[in-house]
Amino acid sequence: MQQLVIANWKMNPARAAEALTLFKLTNAAARGCKKTLVAIAAPAPYLSLLAKVPVKHTVALAGQDLSHEEGGAFTGEIGGSMLASVGASQVLVGHSERRTLGEDDERIARKMRAASLARLTPVLCVGEKERDSEGHYLAVVGTQVEHALSYLTASQIAKIVIAYEPVWAVGPSAVHAARPQDVLEMTLYIRRIITDRIGQTRAARVPILYGGSVEVGNAAPLITHAGVQGLLVGRASLKRSFAALIKEVDSG
Ligand code: PGA
Repeated sequence: MQQLVIANWKMNPARAAEALTLFKLTNAAARGCKKTLVAIAAPAPYLSLLAKVPVKHTVALAGQDLSHEEGGAFTGEIGGSMLASVGASQVLVGHSERRTLGEDDERIARKMRAASLARLTPVLCVGEKERDSEGHYLAVVGTQVEHALSYLTASQIAKIVIAYEPVWAVGPSAVHAARPQDVLEMTLYIRRIITDRIGQTRAARVPILYGGSVEVGNAAPLITHAGVQGLLVGRASLKRSFAALIKEVDSG
């Protein structure tokens, strides 16, 4: 299976010109990849601009969020078909920073359906807020996954990507990334849930990514020992050293 690295730029950079520079750097790094697809989840206003850059398209574009509705009187919302029409092929759904803003499981389930209907690959983000010693975090994530699949058919489920992002490991207040063996436990658990829904053959092809404080140095052990098919990278995707991270994953 091809590996996937998604750069989540979040609400960065502040200007289109900087976004173009960052895009070109990332694209240059992605060009050398043999087994890794790099995608950039850029702020929506930059997507059409990036899609028009006359480079050999080695990177994919992704939205960071989409509306659960297809269109209509929803001021400020962005529809899946709009993202697709400006060059996005994927979209993050249920990122923890959106859940913090009030997005609930029902809304996320509807967004998963909206993304599938718009022919975007939904990248479902799930993760517990804290790790308890009794293992309740598994059930927390399991419930998030189950809810998110509520309105999808088996063939739609077969085309999603899942990103395990423990909330405590994501963003500038995180202490450290999750340990590969802990991520492995969760990936096996998530894949079992998917297997129950669509059978082993198809479930085996659903990419599961890890995200949360990924940086140069911890990317390779995660790819090698955590049972994941890729990474979702926030802060580190804005740095020059992201090229080294991509290389680390591709040669891992
Ligand atoms: P981080 O964010 O790499 O900055 O921890 C990951 C994410 O939000 O997807």
